[in-house]
Amino acid sequence: MNIKEIKNKYLEKDGCMYGRRNIEDSLALLYHENSKFTSHSARVEGQKIMGFNNPFVNKRAYQPYKCYPGTKRVDLNDYKDTVPQKELVATLNQRRSVRNYNPTYKISLSEITTLLYQSYGVNNSQELYNVGREAHMGLRNVPSGGGLFPLEMYVVIQNSHIPSGLYHYRTDLNELECLKEGDFKDTLAGIIQAEPYVQIRDASMVMLVTGVVERSIIKYGDRGYRFMLQESGEVAQTVSLLGEALDLGSCILGGYLDDKVNEFLDVDGVFESINNIIVIGGKIKQEECHEKDS
Ligand SMILES: Cc1cc2nc3c(=O)[nH]c(=O)nc-3n(C[C@H](O)[C@H](O)[C@H](O)COP(=O)(O)O)c2cc1C
Repeated sequence: MNIKEIKNKYLEKDGCMYGRRNIEDSLALLYHENSKFTSHSARVEGQKIMGFNNPFVNKRAYQPYKCYPGTKRVDLNDYKDTVPQKELVATLNQRRSVRNYNPTYKISLSEITTLLYQSYGVNNSQELYNVGREAHMGLRNVPSGGGLFPLEMYVVIQNSHIPSGLYHYRTDLNELECLKEGDFKDTLAGIIQAEPYVQIRDASMVMLVTGVVERSIIKYGDRGYRFMLQESGEVAQTVSLLGEALDLGSCILGGYLDDKVNEFLDVDGVFESINNIIVIGGKIKQEECHEKDS
């Protein structure tokens, strides 16, 4: 379907509260229409998808672990078994976006580990059926289209027991790789349009999730882009729930300047690009509010 056909289809919806202007030249609708499966395209794409399953490709595609050799590491493995015990439905019911954080709250290594390892850390593996023992698929707590895990996780530590700075999370090793040390509160406040509603500078940590789109589209074509975004949502929700289970506040942010953030992360912005930002910090308890007021 092209833009003209989408516009014509819209005419059938005469009287809708959404004005036609909203969808005119919409790249989103154009993309969505053209990445739909029909019984024909599903067969054609299905053949390509099956072609992906050969040992040469499998061996390489299922080790999606970006690494930064030579960087200082923080090993999180000692902390991975300390997990919150809060009940799932209570956690779901209590999760709300929190936009003000306790500026003195130091996030612990155990909390950082829970947020990273329990969302996107590799905690199991599955042998690939046609590759034998040489390669495996590293499984996580979130599902992934084709098990290709297209996301990368970065964190900016602002207040913790390790030096403040930008770190990359090694999902396969459960380690942080230090990319640059320093206080990046002002930088982040400048490239993420969140203040004054979200107090980014008071947060203990900011999680930046990128997508390496080739990992998905190599198998699924343009439809793989949908899968990558779906997975970003899964990770964001999982992190929010883990935050709630730890009694931390979090807020997912959509108003960032993409290429400024990509530059900050030193990723190319095309093949790897920012997908999601989650701010996390200590909650301000009611008593603390009253103390402040008095
Ligand atoms: C993709 C996405 C982007 C968001 N971007 C922002 C944002 O830029 N600023 C903000 O204050 N809240 C943002 N939010 C939070 C929503 O405003 C919030 O989830 C919604 O109002 C529902 O409230 P609740 O999360 O407390 O249930 C975002 C949420 C999502 C899922």
